[in-house]
Amino acid sequence: MVLFAVQLLTFNVVPYNPTMKTTAFQQCMNPDCQVTFDVGQTLTACAKCGDLLDIQYDWSKTPVPHRLKAFEERWHNRRFPLDHSGVWRFRDLFPFAADAMVCTIGEGQTFLQNATCLGNQLGMWPGQLYLQYEGMNPSGSFKDNGMTAAFTHARIVGARRVACASTGNTSASLALYASQNGFQGIVFIGTGKIAFGKLSQALDYGARTLQIEGDFDACLRRVREVSGQLGLYLMNSVNPFRLEGQKSIMYRVLESLSWEVPDWIVVPGGNMGNCSAFGKAFGELKMLGLIKKVPRLAIINASGANTLATLVNKQGVVWNAGRPDKGKISGLYAAMDEANYHPHTIASAIEISRPVNLKKALRSLDTMKGLVHEVTDEAILEAKALIGRYGFGCEPASAATVAGLQQLLKAGTISRSDRVVCILTGHGLKDPDATVYYHTGIQTKNAKQPAAEATWGSRANKPVQVADDMKAIVAALGLSQDTLDGAASGYKASHNASLPFVEY
Ligand code: F0G
Repeated sequence: MVLFAVQLLTFNVVPYNPTMKTTAFQQCMNPDCQVTFDVGQTLTACAKCGDLLDIQYDWSKTPVPHRLKAFEERWHNRRFPLDHSGVWRFRDLFPFAADAMVCTIGEGQTFLQNATCLGNQLGMWPGQLYLQYEGMNPSGSFKDNGMTAAFTHARIVGARRVACASTGNTSASLALYASQNGFQGIVFIGTGKIAFGKLSQALDYGARTLQIEGDFDACLRRVREVSGQLGLYLMNSVNPFRLEGQKSIMYRVLESLSWEVPDWIVVPGGNMGNCSAFGKAFGELKMLGLIKKVPRLAIINASGANTLATLVNKQGVVWNAGRPDKGKISGLYAAMDEANYHPHTIASAIEISRPVNLKKALRSLDTMKGLVHEVTDEAILEAKALIGRYGFGCEPASAATVAGLQQLLKAGTISRSDRVVCILTGHGLKDPDATVYYHTGIQTKNAKQPAAEATWGSRANKPVQVADDMKAIVAALGLSQDTLDGAASGYKASHNASLPFVEY
């Protein structure tokens, strides 16, 4: 009896809930653990061993179309919000929620542009380069693909407050979905670390914005701890439901190519959520017999934030059936700590040195016969200017893809005749300072603190500067210490407050 009560508290079990599908479950990705959890539980790490979780499905009990082309039937039903959404029209491939629970704001109306002019500049065969413009999402980045799925899960489990750490786009997307769906949004950002386009969104959409002293890695560590203790629902990509939504980027790429599989997918790597989702998407499509081949994956790191490239290319770390060399990973992290290393790149969205989805990224590299490549800031800015000149533009992190492609073509790793899709993750207007600086040399980002007599708008939502300290954060959120452990909210986010998540 006592044991049962303890388990209920720890695992936040929801015995029966018509809002979710029972064919879906959460599962630890550690091959030596593989413990499963109900979809009604709120976890961002395995409650037993602390490893990352996947959302899995009993495919034998859930209807999946026999051909991908069958999804085209939904094009005729665009007045129904789920079929209008470029994410949920593929919901049969991530069936965890009942339709009535879905939080959608029309995300995923993005397009795949055949970028022949840009391809010519890179020396590619005509018609072989494609750009997937994820910046066309409602909040201007690919994050909305994942946010719609994670907010749907947050609604299923009855969360009220949602939180994230962010280099900018996650916070903008979270703030938008929170405001549209009646949640309180809380975002943690590193002081001076995010592009103003993104900060302006979080403030405008009403998220409580805490500027923590430190970089993204510090913010994420803190928000994981704070979420567990304050009962906040965590929206970073350690949340496995986020990645289920992000799989749809690949479904839309295939849809735009008349369901033909390209040779290469090229994606920037930051916290490694996207590349993890892509590998899972293609692994599942292959397993379900919906595609015959899997494209190859190129993950592009900025050289100022190159943890994955270092581990894979210099230290030979591989997936190894779920048992990568932990010693090498923790060794690199220890060396970074000792050197007081902090990542630095103009591509602020991917200025991350401890990618939380590292292990899933290794799995995607295995599934998609992938590689990791790193590019300098200079190469990123040059590629960004080319994309802008011959297309719709993008923010610096997204341009890392074309910078990487250019070098991989030169090296002969990617052939000029290959069909290549670069994922442009964020809109060009997210970080106009980088663009203006490139073209004029003018530093527009040197904002000064306002003078004491500055006037604020009547609806001003000022960011709060706060120390990286639990008590200070609780006070800044206007919460009392009673809120600790979710006691006051009645909702318990069982983020394993007592069990540290695995950070290799
Ligand atoms: N591109 C953009 C524009 C991003 O905002 C991010 C991540 C990435 C690429 C990297 O994606 O983490 O899936 O490898 N931005 C996060 C944020 C970290 O907080 O907005 P990833």
